[in-house]
Amino acid sequence: MEDAKKIINTGLRGVTVASTRISHVDGEAGKLIYRGYPIFDLSDQTNYEEIVHLLLYESLPDEQQLNALNERLAANRAIPESLLAALKTQPDNALPMDILQAAIPMLAGNDPNAAELTIENAQRIAESLVAKIATIAAAWHRIRNHREPVAPDPALNHAANFLYMMTGEKSEDNTARFFDVCLVLHAEHSFNASTFSARQVASTRAHMYAAVAGAIGSLSGELHGGANTRVMQMLKKINSVDAIDDYVKHILETGGKLMGLGHAVYKTGDPRARILAPMSKKLGELTGNTKWYDMSVTLEEKGKKAFKEKKGIDIYPNVDFYSASLYHYMGIPADLFTPVFAISRIAGWTAHVIEEQFGGADAKPVLYRPSSDYIGEYCGPAECDFVPMEDR
Ligand code: ACO
Repeated sequence: MEDAKKIINTGLRGVTVASTRISHVDGEAGKLIYRGYPIFDLSDQTNYEEIVHLLLYESLPDEQQLNALNERLAANRAIPESLLAALKTQPDNALPMDILQAAIPMLAGNDPNAAELTIENAQRIAESLVAKIATIAAAWHRIRNHREPVAPDPALNHAANFLYMMTGEKSEDNTARFFDVCLVLHAEHSFNASTFSARQVASTRAHMYAAVAGAIGSLSGELHGGANTRVMQMLKKINSVDAIDDYVKHILETGGKLMGLGHAVYKTGDPRARILAPMSKKLGELTGNTKWYDMSVTLEEKGKKAFKEKKGIDIYPNVDFYSASLYHYMGIPADLFTPVFAISRIAGWTAHVIEEQFGGADAKPVLYRPSSDYIGEYCGPAECDFVPMEDR
């Protein structure tokens, strides 16, 4: 009982709830590894499809395995006609994350084997979701703008194909490769809020679609994946390097949030931000508009300094900070940034669902069921006497 009390209202920080072989976040050293490989090597030398293989099948693919996975992903990209028709009934201003979340049970409804709980079936659904979530996000963006969805192009890789389905045009090589790196960087991050949501749902032996729908809801919040959209809104609101001092001061005085700064686990810096920043710089230069990158650099510097002075803590950019300006340079609208996060993180979520349900001897599946501390009222020393409706 004493131990349980210690973790109340800590958001489970520091509490280890399961073992995992999928990834490790070393918050003190600022390191991230996927199945043993450092993120710096993976982002430099692999593409998103290789990461999908690594996460779902526990090894980097050889050429034959990668070709086979590419073919299966390409074959899975089209979404059911009934889902497309349903998307067309939705209001244009519906939040893209709500649309994405709502689409997942519809995919389940179109899958006659959705509820079969075997590892092979879970891997099949995982690949199908990896392929289809990108199509749904791109299709919704076009539908809300009264344009016809663009059919996937099997000749393109996952990153280039998403940009193509969103814009209807093939991207420059630089843009497509940078987007691919973003997908690699966002694919997995141990027991963050959305992944824990997925695992918690999976622990009830619900199917993969149910777990992923839960994870998407969790990712949408502004303290988690929703932060990337908020970073861009913040940059647009500040709108110039000269206004940053006043903005930081105002946020600290009013108890607001500097979006994209700080992290629940990384306390010496998020390695992903260090990889994203130079890409934002480069695309800013290539598009002839470094304003958003320049503002981000200054905001990082001033935010860090102000936090140290006021709160005595070091604060660093997280993955959402530089991805905002980078996605903006890629032509992705701000309210699609969080769906783009989901397009990548689906690989991590589904790997965790598989581990939660079929983890083997050292990761025994268990139903999550934390306790709570009742601090509500009693009517005196005993429980309240029930009051019938007519006497209330
Ligand atoms: N702006 C304002 N205050 C902040 C920020 C920030 N960006 N970051 C941390 N703080 C505050 C915390 O609220 C806390 O204040 P308190 O002591 O008064 O409670 C204090 O600084 C210390 O915070 P930490 O313990 O270092 O971090 P914590 O785990 O509380 O918060 C979080 C982590 C939620 C991510 C926080 O940094 C934050 O709100 N950042 C802005 C939102 C954001 O960028 N989210 C994306 C995270 S990455 C991801 O989910 C993909």
